[in-house]
Amino acid sequence: MTNPSTPHRMRRLRQSPAIRRLVQDTHIHVAQLIYPLFIREGQGIKKAIQSMPGQYQLSLDHLTEEILSLCELGITQVLLFGIPDNKDAIGSAACQPNGVVQKAIKLIKQIAPEMLVIADLCFCEYTSHGHCGVLTENGRDVDNDATLPLLVEQALSLAAAGVDIIAPSGMMDHMVHALRQGLDLCGYQHLPIMSYAVKFASHYYGPFREAAEGTPQFGDRRSYQMDIACGASALREAELDIQEGADLLIVKPAGHYLDIIYKVKQTYPFIPVVAYQVSGEYAAIKAATLQGWLDEQGAVMESLIAIKRSGADLIITYFAKTVASWLKEITA
Ligand code: PBG
Ligand code: ZN
Repeated sequence: MTNPSTPHRMRRLRQSPAIRRLVQDTHIHVAQLIYPLFIREGQGIKKAIQSMPGQYQLSLDHLTEEILSLCELGITQVLLFGIPDNKDAIGSAACQPNGVVQKAIKLIKQIAPEMLVIADLCFCEYTSHGHCGVLTENGRDVDNDATLPLLVEQALSLAAAGVDIIAPSGMMDHMVHALRQGLDLCGYQHLPIMSYAVKFASHYYGPFREAAEGTPQFGDRRSYQMDIACGASALREAELDIQEGADLLIVKPAGHYLDIIYKVKQTYPFIPVVAYQVSGEYAAIKAATLQGWLDEQGAVMESLIAIKRSGADLIITYFAKTVASWLKEITA
């Protein structure tokens, strides 16, 4: 027998799809998804990335069709990574006016002027040693302060090519300050900085190293990326980047770092927080769904909803295209 005086019945608002939709507080929208692209020098290249099924390295000729298909799906923001033909100790290919990313930016702006182009700003894809900056004299570590002017040079070159947002990912100290100053001095006061402020030294970047061909030739990145067991430094990193002029903050990886996303958003509600669902998160979900062990749509949507629910405003994800096509089906 039901007790008519019992007021609490949680199930009242779960009875039907319509009523559940009515009370949902977390939504995934294509406008909040950023799709990463790996651009290669050369012609006729659409090279599958083994550890990221469904993702490719593209040469510029293939980029055109990719951009058109993104527009069709309603995805209007991409994050570019470049894979140059020539690497050297100082990553000079990163700063050339006809560098691979610079050419990609110009091409995208030609085919789809409304596409928002974000460029990753770092040296690991361009240096022969695979580290995120130039090395110290003994060749064993990244030289923080010597890397800063090179990052500024790379930023100015991307700005000249017409980039909409730069995303410095190297975790050098004072990187945002140096970039903001360099951009402002050269007339790019309006170019926003989306900083990888809170970036952990994660094993989940593994597949990306295949995708972007930026594996360190010795050592690892733990002298500049954050210790996974030191959550407290997240707020300090966020605070410093905001003081230095970051306009948006990236937290990376996403799925295992929801506590960090939550804290950053709660502490800085006025700054857009971008969560990066990284290559290893993609690979793990993809592997399980390809085996038939997890339902793809269910597992992917749950991973993204959890990231948004924790406080992320935007999500960088390799699932962006797949999700956009599902959302299109639902609203069709
Ligand atoms: C380059 C960079 C990395 C990622 C984004 N920018 C690799 C790294 O820092 O080692 C990882 C992205 C991913 O795993 O999807 N600094
Ligand atoms: Zn790097």
